[in-house]
Amino acid sequence: MNDYKSYRNLPALAGICPMKEAMKPGLSVEECVRRLKRYHYAFKRLHQIFAARITAEPIYELKMGFSLHAHLCAEHVTALRRRVGEMREPPLGLDLVPDAHLEIFFDEIRAAPTTAELILGLYEKALPAVKAALKHHIAETNPLADQPSVRVCRFALLEVDDMLMFGAQTIADCLAAAGALDGTEKASGREIARRHSARPYQYDGLPRRDERFPDPYNMGVNAEVFLYDEKFRPEPKTVMMFYKRLREVDVPEMMASIITETSDKPWDYYRDMTRQLWDEARHAMMGEAGFVSLGIDWPRRVMVNFTWSLALNTQLKPIERHAVLYFIEQGLMPRNGKRFEWEVGLASHNPLSALFQDYDWADEVLHARIGRDWYLKEFDDAKKAVQYGDQCWSRVLMDWNKWREGGLTQHRNWWPEAYQEACKHWGVQPDPVVLAYSTTYEQVRADLKTISASG
Ligand SMILES: [Fe+2]
Ligand SMILES: [Fe+2]
Ligand SMILES: [Fe+2]
Repeated sequence: MNDYKSYRNLPALAGICPMKEAMKPGLSVEECVRRLKRYHYAFKRLHQIFAARITAEPIYELKMGFSLHAHLCAEHVTALRRRVGEMREPPLGLDLVPDAHLEIFFDEIRAAPTTAELILGLYEKALPAVKAALKHHIAETNPLADQPSVRVCRFALLEVDDMLMFGAQTIADCLAAAGALDGTEKASGREIARRHSARPYQYDGLPRRDERFPDPYNMGVNAEVFLYDEKFRPEPKTVMMFYKRLREVDVPEMMASIITETSDKPWDYYRDMTRQLWDEARHAMMGEAGFVSLGIDWPRRVMVNFTWSLALNTQLKPIERHAVLYFIEQGLMPRNGKRFEWEVGLASHNPLSALFQDYDWADEVLHARIGRDWYLKEFDDAKKAVQYGDQCWSRVLMDWNKWREGGLTQHRNWWPEAYQEACKHWGVQPDPVVLAYSTTYEQVRADLKTISASG
């Protein structure tokens, strides 16, 4: 066998592996499926935990990191499900818990009482165990016979490493890595007692922010009224659009609550919704990058509120929140829409603004599809579905005056300072009319609808 030669020394076996590797016993299909189901379970639980901890996590960078990692884990769940489905007839048993100890392990992480413990559990325990299991699979399986699984594992490893890098940078002190996750090691037989997860898990849907968001009830600057006012030039509008993007941080906070509080949907629902959640987080970071590009100290100058996610998470049921989201997003296509924002970006000669709006619009096309697939289909009539979203949003109480009277905010008009800082960056004199802008959300909702006296 050692003198086996391929034709004209071309790569044998499509270049997958040396002949010797292709002849090793590897894993049986039975064993391969058993292991894949454990990785699948691990990614599913990780997705769930990342999503569940976005809303109440105060630190913006972690919120954004969790949004990405929820999305990445959901993508690998999807790939693993597909691979298991290629090898086995249904029922695939993908909803079963492969090992009660693994369940406790992930339950404990999900219930971690502090951010620090959560981070350690995710990035120092769970993800290293997943990495070890994936590498183990690649090393043990027959690379020719099981090439499709190897491919899935390799792609997963790439992003597991990204997540670990994020975790390593986040964690100051290191702990020893955890044991094997793939269940190939002998079980210790030790009884594991639940600690944090002894009580049933309670999702915390109250959005929290770090100290760079000092005025989270501030609804003192109505971005939409400014944006659609034709008397204003495109340049200052780019500042307002960066604000609108950064404010999208409240969408992952809200979508995480839908994902976490909705059970019994097909897996693709969670995958799609998490992709959208991540897009919204990305939009927020595009706003952040936009402010940095203009030299605007956004935490000091721009008041990014959480009133929308707070109100929706505390006042509406998950399907009602989804209805509001759908209603808002289907409204993004016409006049006060994404095309308009992109055109403002182009007209402003700020290429970064135009680029971000270009992708913001493109993402919205995907979100419209996701809305059609997972919201609209609940209704027999599309019009009713839109109306229902409008009704749900109208029911939401955002008590502008009560917040002020209660001392939660003064609805301070932060716009002139932010605009002046942008002008400094551009080296131009502020336009007095732009500087004087002072329309709030007291009377006009973000979709430019007049708010009724009751709400
Ligand atoms: Fe959005
Ligand atoms: Fe967006
Ligand atoms: Fe969207």
